[in-house]
Amino acid sequence: MEVIESRIDTGSDEYKANFAAMEQMVADLKAELKKAREDRSEKARKRNAELGKLTVQERLDKLLDRNTPWLEIAPLAAKGMYDGKVHGAGTRAGIGIVQGREVFVHANDPMIKGGTVYPMGVKKTLRCQTICMENNLPMIMLVDSGGAYLPLQSEIFPDVDDGGRIFYNQAIISKMNIPQLTAVMGLCTAGGAYIPAMSDHVVHVTGTGAIFLGGPPLVRAATGEEVTAEDLGGARVHCQESGVSDYFAEDDEHAIQIIRDVMSLLPRQEKATIPTRAPSEPLYDPQEIWGIVPRSISTPYDVREVIARIADGSEFLEFKAMYGPTLVCGWAYIHGYQVGILGNNGVLFSDSSLKATQFISLCDRQGIPLLFLQNINGYIIGREYERRGITKDGHKMVHAVSTATVPKFTVIIGASFGAGNYGMCGRGYSPRFLWMWPNAQIGVMGGEQAASVLISVKNDQLAREGQPPLPAELVAGIRQPIIDSALKEGNAYYSTANLWDDGIVDPARTRDVLGLAISVSLGAPLAGRNQGHGTFRM
Ligand code: COA
Repeated sequence: MEVIESRIDTGSDEYKANFAAMEQMVADLKAELKKAREDRSEKARKRNAELGKLTVQERLDKLLDRNTPWLEIAPLAAKGMYDGKVHGAGTRAGIGIVQGREVFVHANDPMIKGGTVYPMGVKKTLRCQTICMENNLPMIMLVDSGGAYLPLQSEIFPDVDDGGRIFYNQAIISKMNIPQLTAVMGLCTAGGAYIPAMSDHVVHVTGTGAIFLGGPPLVRAATGEEVTAEDLGGARVHCQESGVSDYFAEDDEHAIQIIRDVMSLLPRQEKATIPTRAPSEPLYDPQEIWGIVPRSISTPYDVREVIARIADGSEFLEFKAMYGPTLVCGWAYIHGYQVGILGNNGVLFSDSSLKATQFISLCDRQGIPLLFLQNINGYIIGREYERRGITKDGHKMVHAVSTATVPKFTVIIGASFGAGNYGMCGRGYSPRFLWMWPNAQIGVMGGEQAASVLISVKNDQLAREGQPPLPAELVAGIRQPIIDSALKEGNAYYSTANLWDDGIVDPARTRDVLGLAISVSLGAPLAGRNQGHGTFRM
């Protein structure tokens, strides 16, 4: 395969200014991640220690195999929501290695409001379960939760994608023969009692772990009965009398050892195979991406420069290089796995959409995972393009993305606007994973464009009424709030807080994150080639 020849001048002022800007963004990201991991009140820390519990970080450290990778999912979910302290939506979750096997781990953090479940906590757990189902990943749950965060109970409880869905999914995951292991390390109250109950293996820590449909306060209120949590649903009750739990653990450490023992006994499953070769590093340092990404989202840059720093050996076989040049398509290897890459080099036209449709279809039939590098303002608009059928050509691309059955991965490396988000496999198109770079922006359209549309609509309205257009000072009053809210609601942190992605990643780590994710995706069999598609509008 050909090696991409970089045209970047790493000594230029532009490169250095870009590098410094991204360095700052990555430093800010690391600070946010540290805060999410460590910002807990003294009161909560003291209470955790009094109860003889390990912290979530200690639990994870003891559970995961030493010196193995950990891919955290949505660590900044709920950032800035509620009181600003419900870090990670109250849980730590991610993919790691236990007994040499890839697993999903989901752990409540009892030091965040007693591990209670906020609306974003439900959304995050559902996302974690989707990852398990799509990638055939065993799920380990370390439960320590006061159940629903009661002041927001109406937002957690009744709807199709609310709390009940978690237990419904557990039944489906079990039916799919995906193992679920739960360690009861604190309360599993009310609906939360079903987390261990619906699992295949339940380890129960004596003294701190308790499972009950109604906790002592509710029992007292409903029946007047006085009973301790241990007596109502402790390890001895459930391991010896009710049979709800399977393994009795003396403390957290013992429970984690039992989970590791159970994991070691689970049958190993074959992974799906895709074309591979021996991995090699890119010729160009991935950290150079920091100097390549422009400081302004509207400054274009060549996506091949990114591919050269993600792909093994910086090798890339470009497909239809001279046709539809605003979309770069081609084959490469990442950590030894073959992938088909689509990366934007401008807005999507009819030719680039048709090229994408053909390329996606080829990858799907050949069983090659797809990687979308999104930096897209949308599909081309205007009289000429509508006449040439940009909508039906865009439709073909969106259709091909929707019906492709190979694993898809999306990284938003710049703009993600309009229908470009759809065609380039946005969250609604079920990529197995989707990440943002810190500079990324997402929305129906940019703030400037949205403001212009609204002002133009207003002026049309006034014209119909025979009035003059809006005066300049009123235009400014409409424009600025729209631009401000687009900037706030379109940035990577807003996206990740709302779980529109699986996390913000340092661009220099993209290659390693993708390598791990591709490996994880092969846990599920490929759906079978030549799955077909619906009707293409010609
Ligand atoms: N909803 C809202 N807030 C809750 C809560 C709930 N279900 N459960 C606990 N909290 C809050 C507490 O008010 C406290 O808030 P604060 O730090 O601002 O004072 C914080 O979580 C920690 O609770 P605390 O009781 O001090 O900690 P603990 O470690 O001693 O006990 C629990 C934690 C979860 C065991 C205990 O709070 C409890 O039993 N909660 C009620 C559980 C329940 O019956 N839930 C039913 C919901 S379905």
